[in-house]
Amino acid sequence: MQKTQTTSFKSTFEQEVYEGLTAFPKHLSSKYFYDEVGDKLFQDIMNMPEYYLTDCEYDILDANKKAIGELFKKDGEPFSLFELGAGDGKKTKILLKHFVENQIQFDYRPIDISQNALNQLEGSIKKEIPEVEVNTLQGTYFETLRDIGKANGRRKVILFLGSNMGNLLHPQAIEFLKNMRDSIAENDLIFMGLDQKKNPQTILDAYNDKAGITEAFNKNVLTRINGEMDANFDLDKFLHWEVYDPETGTAKSYLVSKEEQMVNIESLELEIRLNAWETIHTEISQKYDDTVVAWLAEQADLKIVTSFTDNKQWFKNYVFKK
Ligand code: AVI
Repeated sequence: MQKTQTTSFKSTFEQEVYEGLTAFPKHLSSKYFYDEVGDKLFQDIMNMPEYYLTDCEYDILDANKKAIGELFKKDGEPFSLFELGAGDGKKTKILLKHFVENQIQFDYRPIDISQNALNQLEGSIKKEIPEVEVNTLQGTYFETLRDIGKANGRRKVILFLGSNMGNLLHPQAIEFLKNMRDSIAENDLIFMGLDQKKNPQTILDAYNDKAGITEAFNKNVLTRINGEMDANFDLDKFLHWEVYDPETGTAKSYLVSKEEQMVNIESLELEIRLNAWETIHTEISQKYDDTVVAWLAEQADLKIVTSFTDNKQWFKNYVFKK
């Protein structure tokens, strides 16, 4: 039985939880996986052997840093290197080091929603590569993309690594690419990492590790609702379930209710009922190929300049311009 919603929402998180859990089929957004615990779980995922994405992209950047440097520096004028969702910067530091060692003139502007993440990143760069000029920007991608658009002066290169765009459905990804396009000028570049279609088993394994780290990451959205909205989700009553459709290239994560149950979310004055084996869809992780990327670029009116891949061709970094 559902109660009528009488209170107003305190946050977009509350509103989206209300809408997602009263919808059919139920859904919650993967953007809510990330708090301090979720950030740490994602770091752990990136270090798992099954999660090949990080190692592949690391290898691509390392093997191609010279060519990437040439591309970014163009005629040698200084540029600003923006990064959306920089995380711990492990992969980016390969490029930063290479640029410093080769006297390539640039400044680094990491963008993240979390000021804490930015402070840590800035601190570690100051320690490891003190020559890099770092200017952090705190905010959502879209707010900051607007600001990037206004930041006249140096040429811009925008990094968006880790196949982060894969967490968006194609229509949202196109909107996102259009926003990026609007924030750059003629000579600017976008450098984006996108995970590729491959043996479906490899993909399933990356999102279904035996140690249960991905499961804990998926369930962290319920933990957050419990803590932040005074709810009583029992995590043991849910299965983490991953599916991959090799035709569309879409990996999807679900939380599946193992039994019929009622859950109370006090702050939302909401009681929800889950039937046995009812699903809550939580995340998509899109896998791409050149045809799909060319289509997305065309939809957003972007041109593909070049791309770099690893020797297994599991991951690709694409360079786009206006
Ligand atoms: C952040 N994002 C690109 C990751 C992905 O692969 O979709 C998040 C993730 N979800 C489960 N494992 C990792």
